[in-house]
Amino acid sequence: MQKLFTGLQPSGALHIGNYLGVLKPFADMYGKYTSFLMVADYHALTTLKDPARMRQNILDAVKDYLAVGVDPKKATIFQQSQIPEHTELTWILNTLVTMSFLELAHAFKDKEARGLETNVSLFDYPVLMASDIVLYDTDVVPVGQDQKQHIEYARDIAGKFNTAYGETFTLPTEKIIEGVAIVPGTDGKKMSKSYGNTIPLFGTKDEIAKAVMSIVTDSKGTSPEHVYNIHRLFRGGEALAKLYKENTGKYKALKEALVEDIEAVVSPMRERRESIPDADVKTILKEGSEKAREQAERKMIEVRRKVGVSL
Ligand code: ADP
Ligand code: TRP
Repeated sequence: MQKLFTGLQPSGALHIGNYLGVLKPFADMYGKYTSFLMVADYHALTTLKDPARMRQNILDAVKDYLAVGVDPKKATIFQQSQIPEHTELTWILNTLVTMSFLELAHAFKDKEARGLETNVSLFDYPVLMASDIVLYDTDVVPVGQDQKQHIEYARDIAGKFNTAYGETFTLPTEKIIEGVAIVPGTDGKKMSKSYGNTIPLFGTKDEIAKAVMSIVTDSKGTSPEHVYNIHRLFRGGEALAKLYKENTGKYKALKEALVEDIEAVVSPMRERRESIPDADVKTILKEGSEKAREQAERKMIEVRRKVGVSL
C-alpha cells in the first residue's frame, strides 16, 4: 500500500484555508493509504517560544484532526518531537545540503524580507521537513500550494542521499488539490495566520460571522468577488449562481448566507471536537508516537549503516 504523510505546525488555531487545503483532502483520502498525520511541534518551535501555549496547541491540534474525521485506528497520529530520529536524520541530511540551496527557500526569504528573526532552525526548516517525510518511505504528501517547494526540497534531498549512499529513500510527491490550493482570505490574498485575514475553523459562530463580515467588498462589480471566491468552496455552482443573482448588490445578505454555509459544515465538527477529553488525546499521541518510532528506528538503522557510523 502506498504511504500518505502530512504534518501541521501546532502554531495557532486552524483556519478554513488549512481545513480545505490540507486537512479535508487528507481526511478524504487517507483510508486508501498507510497514513501518517504529524503534529510538527519542532517546526512550530522555530517561531513559538511559549511553553504553555505550545502544550495547549499540541493537544488542540490533535483534537482538530479527530474533529475533521481522522480515525486514529486508521492513521498514525503522532508528535514529531517524540521521535528523535527526525532530528537525527536532519543532521545527516544537513551534511549533504548546501547553504545556497536553502537560501532559495521561499519561507526563509519571506521571513528575511519582512525583517523577522531568521534563526538557524528557520533556515534548516526544509531539511527537518524532508526528514519527516522520507523516514516513513512516503509516496504522497497532501499540502496547500505554499508547501510545494518544501516537498520539492524533500525530493531533492532524498535523491542526494540515494546518489551518495545508494537507494534508501522513496522520492515523495506533493498532492495539491485544484480549487483549494490557495484559499483566499478576507482581503482576497492567500488566507494565512501571518496576514491576519483568516476565518477560524473552530471559532464560535459569532467569531466566524465577525471574520466573514470583514471580507473586503468592492462596489465595482455586481457580485462581491472576495465573498464569492470563498463561498464557492462551500456551495455548488448553480445554487450559488442563483443566490448571487437574487441578491445582486446585497453584500450583507450574501455574507450572512456564507456564514450559514460555513456553519453547516463546521458545527457538527465543532460539536465532535468539544466532546474529546484531553486524556484521550494524550493516549492517542502516545500510542501513535510509539508506532511511528518503530518505523523511524528501522529506517535509521539502515541510514546509520549506509553512512558508515554503525560498526
Ligand atoms: P499559515 O499560512 O496560516 O501559517 P500553515 O503554514 O500553518 O498556514 O499551513 C498548514 C497547512 O495548511 C499547509 O499544508 C498549507 O499549505 C495549508 N494552507 C495554509 N493556508 C492555506 C490556504 N490559504 N489555502 C490552502 N492551503 C493552505
Ligand atoms: N511545514 C508544514 C506547514 O507549515 C508542516 C510540516 C512539517 C509538514 N513537516 C511536514 C507538512 C511534512 C508535510 C509533510 O504546514
